Amino acid sequence: MKSIVVVGAQWGDEGKGKVVDYMAASFDYIARCAGGHNAGHTVIYNGNRFVLQLIPCGILRPGKHAVIGAGVVVDPAAMVAELDNLNGAGIDVRGRLHLAARAHLIFPYHRQMEKAAETARGAAKIGTTSRGIGPAYEDKMARCGLRVCDLLEPRRFGEKLSRVVEEKNAVCRAAYGAPLEVKGLCEKYLEYAERLRPLVVDASSLLNRALDEGRSVLFEGAQGTMLDIDYGTYPFVTSSNATAGGACTGRGVAPTRSSGIAGVTKAYTTRVGSGPFPTEMSDLGAREVRDRGKEYGAVTGRPRRCGWLDLAILRYAVMVNGITSLIVTKLDVFDTQREIQVCVGYCYKGTPVHEMPAAVEDFEHIRPEYRTLPGWQASTEGIRDAQELPRTALDYLKFISDQLEVEIGMISTGPERDATIVASGTQFASWL
Ligand code: GDP
Ligand code: IMO
Ligand code: MG
Repeated sequence: MKSIVVVGAQWGDEGKGKVVDYMAASFDYIARCAGGHNAGHTVIYNGNRFVLQLIPCGILRPGKHAVIGAGVVVDPAAMVAELDNLNGAGIDVRGRLHLAARAHLIFPYHRQMEKAAETARGAAKIGTTSRGIGPAYEDKMARCGLRVCDLLEPRRFGEKLSRVVEEKNAVCRAAYGAPLEVKGLCEKYLEYAERLRPLVVDASSLLNRALDEGRSVLFEGAQGTMLDIDYGTYPFVTSSNATAGGACTGRGVAPTRSSGIAGVTKAYTTRVGSGPFPTEMSDLGAREVRDRGKEYGAVTGRPRRCGWLDLAILRYAVMVNGITSLIVTKLDVFDTQREIQVCVGYCYKGTPVHEMPAAVEDFEHIRPEYRTLPGWQASTEGIRDAQELPRTALDYLKFISDQLEVEIGMISTGPERDATIVASGTQFASWL
């Protein structure tokens, strides 16, 4: 059985899109399990750049099946726009794209509520992607969400939507003094329904059947470990489980059916939005990394905050996700660096900290402990064979692997599909 989960080991944008696109060549099914169109997964091949938000990257590989699992929250407008983009690029999705009947829907009122909540938070705002993700998951948990299966039954959908809007308006009038703007909403959504209807399946049955028949499945994580609703830097997180556990519930395939967990990390660290970031660089250092790494949000265009590699976070990610193989991306961004700092652990008031602080307030008091390693000051761009990497770059990778006690199975040396090294003799190599 080949069933591999790819998770982000940091705060998202680790390069999961690039990695999943590369790996997808060796898998039959590629599935998203959590998050929504807050994700932005960039894939570049033959000079074409695609940013996929809801649809798994596997769709770009002819003949591969792409599945949107029940744990994903789906904005039908975003989904239809993404379908149109793919059609426009000549990518035929017919018969290969599948959408879980159990996935929850995002409505414009979710975005409205998110905007109101973020404004009310003022300086303490989370800095969300404004896609309505949080409020849609809130409704799911409050058991007043509407799902893809509802959308397919016009009468039922109309009735349920009126009931939910009535309930929400009672709250809105009391809290904000105005009802929700829902004119024409039902009709619009029923139009989307006709576009989505042919894609709808029981995604859990589909994936389990595929595994029963000996097909291979790759699970494409979204966001990252430190954005996980339970294990991230709460409340500066997203509203879903971005870790490997979330991949199980979001896909409806048992944990016993995972044969490996791959964790993706950059050679450094970035984060978008607010919240703690112990290894954040000074403005000058961050600017160089941001320029070289083109660190601007794939979805919102916001500049990403940049910092040194944080092994405390990666150690935590290895533990929480059960990562069996690491993928290091963006090694080439460090090509000009004279020296590289790596955080090997945290100290709290002079004492080593062995566990990730639960409260964001505690992050203010922790101090990263750094080790300084020499840079390689040579180009690694586009290298495809580990033996061609400068000795110092190999030493940097070995240091990470030794510290974390996990193999490095893949190294990415550029955004293009073939700027990739698969480390021979690793478990990772056996998956491809
Ligand atoms: P994701 O959300 O984890 O899929 O990552 P994003 O696509 O949001 O951000 C990663 C960015 O880094 C994208 O612009 C990629 O094209 C780019 N990228 C991925 N791997 C590499 C690499 O090895 N080197 C460089 N220079 N860029 C990379
Ligand atoms: P990918 O899959 C990076 C961040 C937002 C914000 C917080 C909450 O591309 O790695 P949300 O809209 O989810 O309620 O925002 O989470 N965030 C991401 N940051 N990459 C992502 O996805 C993200 N998805 C959400 O910036 O800080
Ligand atoms: Mg991204």
